[in-house]
Amino acid sequence: MAKQFDVAVIGAGAAGMMCAAVAGQRGKKVILIDHATKLAEKIRISGGGRCNFTNAAAAPQHYLSQNPHFCKSALSRYSPQDFINLVKRYRISFHEKHKGQLFCDDSAEQIINMLKAECELGNVQWRMPCSVASVGKEGNLFRIDTNAGEVIAENVVIATGGLSIPKIGATDFAYRIAQQFGLKMIAPRAGLVPLTFDAAGWQPFLPLAGIALPVEVEAGEKKLRGFFKEDLLFTHRGLSGPAILQISSFWQPGQPLSVNLLPEIDIAQTLIEGKTSIKKNFGNLFSQWLPNRLALGLLEANGIDPAARVADTPDRVLRTLSDAINRWAIAPSGSEGYRKAEVTLGGVDTRELSQQSMMVNKVPGLHFIGEAVDVTGWLGGYNFQWAWASGTAAAMSF
Ligand code: FDA
Repeated sequence: MAKQFDVAVIGAGAAGMMCAAVAGQRGKKVILIDHATKLAEKIRISGGGRCNFTNAAAAPQHYLSQNPHFCKSALSRYSPQDFINLVKRYRISFHEKHKGQLFCDDSAEQIINMLKAECELGNVQWRMPCSVASVGKEGNLFRIDTNAGEVIAENVVIATGGLSIPKIGATDFAYRIAQQFGLKMIAPRAGLVPLTFDAAGWQPFLPLAGIALPVEVEAGEKKLRGFFKEDLLFTHRGLSGPAILQISSFWQPGQPLSVNLLPEIDIAQTLIEGKTSIKKNFGNLFSQWLPNRLALGLLEANGIDPAARVADTPDRVLRTLSDAINRWAIAPSGSEGYRKAEVTLGGVDTRELSQQSMMVNKVPGLHFIGEAVDVTGWLGGYNFQWAWASGTAAAMSF
């Protein structure tokens, strides 16, 4: 069996294109294989079509993993500024939207074209659409059987991502290869996903669908406890918005979320201390603090007549109301799943990989990068930064 390529990258998404481009530009003979008919659909739909391509403040603490130190090496060697410099070189204009999140001014398509151009600079060969039937190791080489013939390469990089959004081509390919080579896995689950409630339990909240407001939300256990101050959105099936997408990655089935619907005001303290001076009734007072429909809905759910006066209400009732709004404990029954999840948590256990090269310790030449690996970023450009950084880490090792 004779070597045809130094590197075969399977999966031409964010991580795969980055890895192929960098390896190609380092003089390696690279082939990039993908089964999709349209290139990098996930980049195209990302950030509402404008691709939140990095986060200027991305750092290891913005990532979830069973092995939280693993991502440090790749992230420190390829920083958000490195990607920003690349974007600037291609004269792609961008803006910061919120908390360091950088978006293209025009279109995510510009990022795809940039990565394609970088691959061209590295003379990367393409096989796409092309499905891979098997990957096997024979001596020091890998044999990849595809529907367009076999590929023999010295190194294989698995960059086929996670399970999110199957309708645009997500598969469990990476997990199958990991299993084939006897690698440990961290069970995958949907992350950055809207949370749902059983229909009967959610009935009282249906009239609130469409309401968005800034909240504080908390969930998870000890080391993996999340806390976010972002917007929450009521939907017909449950809760969404950035606050919920963020906390969904920390939430475990069966656990409640703790939501502060009015973070700027400690209701018990404000109402009890100001009792004699507050002239407004509950309806007027709470409509000043919260969207009107939500204020009235919450008062009704807590058995409080909006026309009642704060001054006439016992402290005990005010404390209960405060708990219901400042510490709303609510247990989702599930999530919208991979159909709507922006990412897949879990994946190949990082303890199987070298943090320098992303290579499998016990299978020289086999690498895993991007979302296939148990490193998952928060919402806000962190996941693409991991794709760029892990792809570059592998490419620099060839
Ligand atoms: P990615 O999924 O990009 O690529 C995998 C590639 O492998 C695909 O091209 C696929 O076709 C191919 N493939 C899969 N199975 C295969 C098989 N069996 N054979 C051959 N090829 C196969 N992140 C962020 O930082 N900012 C953002 O704005 C967004 N926005 C966003 C919106 C939406 C709707 C989603 C679903 C996700 C995001 N993300 C995001 C997350 C981000 O898109 C994601 O983390 C990266 O694309 C992961 O990069 P990978 O290269 O690992 O996988």
